Amino acid sequence: MKISVCGKGGSGKSTVVTFLAKQALRKKLEVLVVDADDSNSGMARMLGFDSHPLPLMDLVGGKAMIKKRMGGQTLLNQTEIRTGEFAPDFIRRRNGLMLVGIGKILQTMEGCACPMGVLNREFLKKLTLEPNQIALVDMEAGVEHFGRGIDEAIDKVLVVVEPSFDSLQVAAKIRNMAFSMGKKVVAVVNKAPSEAISQKIEQQLAADGLAVIGVLPQDPSVFEACLNGDVPEKGQAFEAVDTVLDRLLAA
Ligand SMILES: Nc1ncnc2c1ncn2[C@@H]1O[C@H](COP(=O)(O)OP(=O)(O)OP(=O)(O)O)[C@@H](O)[C@H]1O
Ligand SMILES: [Mg+2]
Repeated sequence: MKISVCGKGGSGKSTVVTFLAKQALRKKLEVLVVDADDSNSGMARMLGFDSHPLPLMDLVGGKAMIKKRMGGQTLLNQTEIRTGEFAPDFIRRRNGLMLVGIGKILQTMEGCACPMGVLNREFLKKLTLEPNQIALVDMEAGVEHFGRGIDEAIDKVLVVVEPSFDSLQVAAKIRNMAFSMGKKVVAVVNKAPSEAISQKIEQQLAADGLAVIGVLPQDPSVFEACLNGDVPEKGQAFEAVDTVLDRLLAA
């Protein structure tokens, strides 16, 4: 199953991806995390890797070359891509956990991120998982990835919603865009400060046609760990993700 994790900037997408990955490993699944956020670069560290893999963008010769090289002989020209086929520099692996990255915007004036969107879309389409594997895609914030068709090959879209008006607005947009693509889309409430507020958010999401499959509380240990680039492997928020994963994996 390929699952994309989306939502407003700062809602907790990367944290939720990391929690889901760690819970999936506990269930003896192999997990490929796809870092599709072209701005932030904390994912490798959050997952406990020392360094980032080389971006898949480099595999096709960088942004300038992507159009030419999409027609040449690269991994991305195969009809199917399996996790065992990456050269070591392009993937990080540890005990069933794998990380690949699409690419980052590193310089001023380097142009728009469209080529990375194209690459991401093609990569996700060709990515062929084994029955014991799942892919978790840490998407860029907002809804632009839907406009670029990146979610075409995604089986389920998980929207992370924090308690804010803007986050609810983005969630409703994502729901409509995913729905119009025929994708299954569900939500998780994150950073819930109280039962009363999470209920209010759930009601709003239900009115927007989004089923909530879990509520993660505001957890000070998550916030504190984040200052070091880490995500804790215990605590209420982490434990709540166990059920979220079961529900995602259910048909
Ligand atoms: N359940 C939680 N309790 C407390 N803090 C949280 C929780 N979830 C996330 N955070 C904090 O919220 C901040 C944003 O989280 P995160 O980086 O995962 O969001 P994001 O959606 O990936 O952001 P971006 O859009 O910038 O990629 C971090 O400081 C993180 O520690
Ligand atoms: Mg993030």
